[in-house]
Amino acid sequence: MTQGGTNETRHFRTAVVPAAGLGTRFLPATKTVPKELLPVVDTPGIELVAGEAADSGASRLVIVTSEGKDGVVAHFVEDLVLESKLMASGKSHLLEKVRKAQGLIEVESVVQDEPLGLGHAVSCVESVLDDDEDAIAVLLPDDLVMPRGVLDTMARVRAKRGGSVLCAIDVPKDQVSAYGVFEVEDLPDAVNPDVLKVTGMVEKPKVEDAPSTFAAAGRYLLDRAIFDALRRITPGQGGELQLTDAIALLISEGHPVHVVVHRGSRHDLGNPGGYLRAAVDFALDSEEYGPSLREWLTQRLQQTGQ
Ligand code: UTP
Repeated sequence: MTQGGTNETRHFRTAVVPAAGLGTRFLPATKTVPKELLPVVDTPGIELVAGEAADSGASRLVIVTSEGKDGVVAHFVEDLVLESKLMASGKSHLLEKVRKAQGLIEVESVVQDEPLGLGHAVSCVESVLDDDEDAIAVLLPDDLVMPRGVLDTMARVRAKRGGSVLCAIDVPKDQVSAYGVFEVEDLPDAVNPDVLKVTGMVEKPKVEDAPSTFAAAGRYLLDRAIFDALRRITPGQGGELQLTDAIALLISEGHPVHVVVHRGSRHDLGNPGGYLRAAVDFALDSEEYGPSLREWLTQRLQQTGQ
C-alpha cells in the first residue's frame, strides 16, 4: 500500500486547514504574529500539520486565511534570495530546513472575510473543490495529534461505512468540560474497538452531563454533504456558523458519522499552556536541544523543590 492508503481507501485529495481565527487565547503575541506560525522548537505549527496532511495522501492543502495573515501561506512559498544566501554560505542543513515546507504539498488559500466560525471557514472551501471530490479532510492547526496516521484509519472507516469520520481522544473525566464531547454507540461488527458510531455531540458539557470521555481532536474527514448542511444551519452566538451544528444536522438526517478514538497524544497549540507542553515535548526528543534541555529542566525543578 502506498503512503496514506490507496486511492480507493483514501477518498480525499484536499486537506483543509482553517487558519482565519483571531487567536485571542494567545494575545498579545497574535496581535501581529499568526498563531499558526509560532514555532514548535523551530518549525511553525502549520508546517507540522501540512506534513501530516501530505503523509495522509492528500495532494493539496487549502489554507483558509484572513486579511493580515498572509505570512501563513508565505511560509510555503520559495524564497530565492534566502536560499541563495544559504547556498553561498554553505549552510546546506538550513537550506534543507527552509525548503522543506514548499516541497511537502501543493498549497492554495481561500480568504474568509470575517471570522464567522469554523463552520463558515470550512464552507469557504467549497468553491475550489473539483466536482469529483466526495470528501475533504479538515485539520485544525491548533491540534497536534501524535503519532501521525489517524487520517489513514479514518479513511479506511469511511471506505467501509461511508459518511463522515471524526477523531477523538479519550480524556480524563474531569477535563471533558474543555472540549466538544461525542455521544457514541458501539458497533457490533467493528473489528477495531476504537471505531464507534456517533449519535450526538455536546460542546463543553458539565462533567455530570458528558455523554462520554471522547473529546473531539481537530481531525475530520467530511463528506461533501457537509457544505449543504452548513447552508442549512442557523448561526449561533456572534453570528458564528459551528461545524458541530452541521455535523449534528447530518446525524439527525441519518448520515453515517463515526469516530476513531486515537490512542496517542494531542497537544493544543492554541493556548500558551498547551503550546509550551508541545514545545518541551518536541524539544526533549530533539537530538540538538534535548540533552541540554533535560539537564536544565532537572536542575530547575530541583531548585523549586518539585
Ligand atoms: P479556535 O476558536 O480554536 O481558534 O478555532 P481561534 O478563533 O483562532 O482562537 P481563539 O479562540 O480566539 O483563541 C479553531 C480553528 O478554526 C479556525 C482557527 O484559525 C483555528 O485554526 N477558525 C476559527 C477560522 O478559520 N475561522 C473562524 O471564523 C474561526
